[in-house]
Amino acid sequence: MSDLNLILLGPPGAGKGTQAERLREDFGLPHISTGDILRAQVAEGTELGKQARRYMEAGELVPDDLIVKMIGERINAGDARDGFLLDGFPRNEKQADALAEALEALDRRLSAALLIDVPDDEVVRRLAGRRVCVKNPSHIYHVDFDPPKHEGVCDQDGSRLIQRDDDKEETIRKRLEVYHSQTEPLIDYYDRAGLLRRFDGSRSAEDVHDHLRAAVATLRLEDQL
Ligand code: AP5
Repeated sequence: MSDLNLILLGPPGAGKGTQAERLREDFGLPHISTGDILRAQVAEGTELGKQARRYMEAGELVPDDLIVKMIGERINAGDARDGFLLDGFPRNEKQADALAEALEALDRRLSAALLIDVPDDEVVRRLAGRRVCVKNPSHIYHVDFDPPKHEGVCDQDGSRLIQRDDDKEETIRKRLEVYHSQTEPLIDYYDRAGLLRRFDGSRSAEDVHDHLRAAVATLRLEDQL
């Protein structure tokens, strides 16, 4: 059984969630989104959700200790033992080191860091028009680039579509600032480790998917050799 342990890197709105869902279907890898996990905790009003909420609303990172433990447990859960697709983690060098240590303790290693790159102006356009399913946040739409068949209704399960609280222009700008200062250095971090693969995220979602799928298929073949 191949063990494809992948992370998706890129600015907010690059299309990480959109592409992760497509790759999940292609390769049967669980899509682990720290943002989705945290939003579910906020909605349920758990202790973690209560602590995370104010950071998320401000567009800042939730403290590392809250996230690292959660991910350490998640990558060792049944469905992730044969590989995973991490979306939104790691977000800084401390989290990247913690992931490497957690994998080493499980005698596993990272297969690749897939960077989807998109310029800031495009990020703002995409996030301002994003709508997500209230029931399943991995059902993602855009009012212009990927509209649902019926306005405000999810094509996949008929639920209502909503705008995320942190998709207001001011919060988007803050999230971009945090990305450039804290997460972007990971590009160099994974490049030095020989794990970085770059993808032009400003192309259509279909083009980006084709390139990612080809790269992941090659990684899987290499892993099986
Ligand atoms: P998180 O949920 O991870 O948000 P993010 O990284 O800012 O990424 P997004 O989900 O906004 O964007 P995406 O790249 O998935 O784009 P999407 O596919 O939706 O994090 C939220 C918050 O949680 C953080 O701010 C932080 O507070 C906290 N957090 C999470 N992880 C953390 C961690 N590890 N440590 C600490 N704190 C953490 O696409 C966007 C839009 O564009 C959609 O409308 C889509 O339809 C459209 N689109 C996608 N691709 C294309 C394309 N090619 N062309 C045109 N439109 C496209």
